[in-house]
Amino acid sequence: MVYLNGDFIAKDKASISVMDRGFLFGDGVYEVIPVYQGKIFRLTEHLNRLQKSLDSIQITNPYLFDQWLDILNKLVSNTSTPDQSLYLQITRGADTQRKHSFATLTPTVYVESNPLNPKTEAELAQGFSAITQADIRWSRCDIKATSLLSNILYAQQAKQHQVEEVILSRDGQITEGATSNVFIIKDHTLFTHPTGEHILSGITRDLVLESASACGMQVNETPFPVDTLKNADEVWISSSTREVMPITTVDDQPINHGKVGEKWLCVYEHYQQLKND
Ligand code: PDD
Repeated sequence: MVYLNGDFIAKDKASISVMDRGFLFGDGVYEVIPVYQGKIFRLTEHLNRLQKSLDSIQITNPYLFDQWLDILNKLVSNTSTPDQSLYLQITRGADTQRKHSFATLTPTVYVESNPLNPKTEAELAQGFSAITQADIRWSRCDIKATSLLSNILYAQQAKQHQVEEVILSRDGQITEGATSNVFIIKDHTLFTHPTGEHILSGITRDLVLESASACGMQVNETPFPVDTLKNADEVWISSSTREVMPITTVDDQPINHGKVGEKWLCVYEHYQQLKND
């Protein structure tokens, strides 16, 4: 069962107009929200970010908080597993003709929930690989837009190179991953790119920073260059569906001799506690 414009219907019965600007232009925004043990995790933070994305592209939020909560909870209780990933997207809606500029339309709202399959403890203990690439995305990466062509190209490169993530750099400084935020540990301090228009302000990013402080680490939200990434003591990525994951090779170069770092373990364990709060 999925939600589309007021109806809960079978996924194969859900359809939208070919004139929908989401279809024609990728003119819309989205959120991915994790669900643990049937409870939606950090909903307020996700809906606040959704509001910011909508405001940035001049779409009026079609629902109030409680209406979102009702829709999301209905889908959660209809999905078989306790841990899930909610996907919601709002497009500007369907116009009568294709033109770049827009009028005020009725937004299209689509929501689905799927089982969340986290990495196993054994996979996490092994660590993951990443490659680096120049960040070719536009300059408003803070908007969680459905137009994701560059991210799709990176995902395909990751698949071809059999790596978990592509880590991006703009003007020589690491911004974030193609679908995640990036952190390094250097000399006992955690570094990550500051929020702003060049990264998505990850909900998980905030929780990683909170966990790192709880683990006694210094946190420094400052950009760092590609070389510093490759010579870091630890590298991690974070997102709602991946939580916080250790990266142990970058461009085939081992990080921390290819071993998962102990600071990652502390942050990971703290994050697991936050999930149960
Ligand atoms: N992506 N940066 C980018 C470019 C992302 O696409 C994501 C998440 C993040 C992490 O944000 P958060 O912690 O709020 O999930 C950072 C989601 C999961 C996706 O596109 O599926």
